[in-house]
Amino acid sequence: MSKYIVFDGMDGSGKGTQMKLLEKKFGNSIIFTREPGGTPFAEEIRRVVRDNVLASESTTLNNFLLFLASREELQHNLVAPTLKSGKHVFSDRGDSSTYAFQLCGEEHEELTHLFNLSREHIFLNRQSPDLYIVFDLPAEMSRRRALQDVARKTNHFDVRDLGFYERVRKGFRKFAVHMPVKFVDATRTPEEIHQEVLELLAEEGIGLSG
Ligand code: TYD
Repeated sequence: MSKYIVFDGMDGSGKGTQMKLLEKKFGNSIIFTREPGGTPFAEEIRRVVRDNVLASESTTLNNFLLFLASREELQHNLVAPTLKSGKHVFSDRGDSSTYAFQLCGEEHEELTHLFNLSREHIFLNRQSPDLYIVFDLPAEMSRRRALQDVARKTNHFDVRDLGFYERVRKGFRKFAVHMPVKFVDATRTPEEIHQEVLELLAEEGIGLSG
């Protein structure tokens, strides 16, 4: 059976490097995508919610709804049909980010009900993620790495205070109470992290032959 795996985690956790290593390893035997974005329409939404500074001047609820819109589009036009065709999907971020960033990081836990309801609708008659692999990093390290990353394209998500990163980290832990999450210690070398990711994928039956 095809699997839907979400890769998520703290800013500066090296998630991008890990996704590149996985793409190199698995090539097009697996469909790689991302949130927000992943289809032409969802990439339009990404430009609004991630790249446009106007989004930072709006409300958390508004951004939350845009992330949901991108997710529904991605599920409809890419994830569901791909899984149905028998291929695995690896996604760079997913609903775990909405939970950790909007509900916990931005302290809008009153959106929990809406978040749960959105999951029910978005994954109605569709496959929800089989596994979330979360790259975990202490808050100070996450903030420092994000700031040091000069190559990073500036977006309005980048500069936050330490408390925000602490809340995001706790948010992933809270998400994991009810969801199939495995945490990976992202303070180690990229190669060590990559090996652990491959082991977790092997446990899901995903290897070069599977
Ligand atoms: P991106 O530059 O792609 O970050 P990264 O390379 O770290 O994945 O920007 C995605 C940003 O969007 C990231 O800061 C997390 C944020 N985000 C949310 O706040 N909520 C969400 O639901 C999603 C999917 C992402």
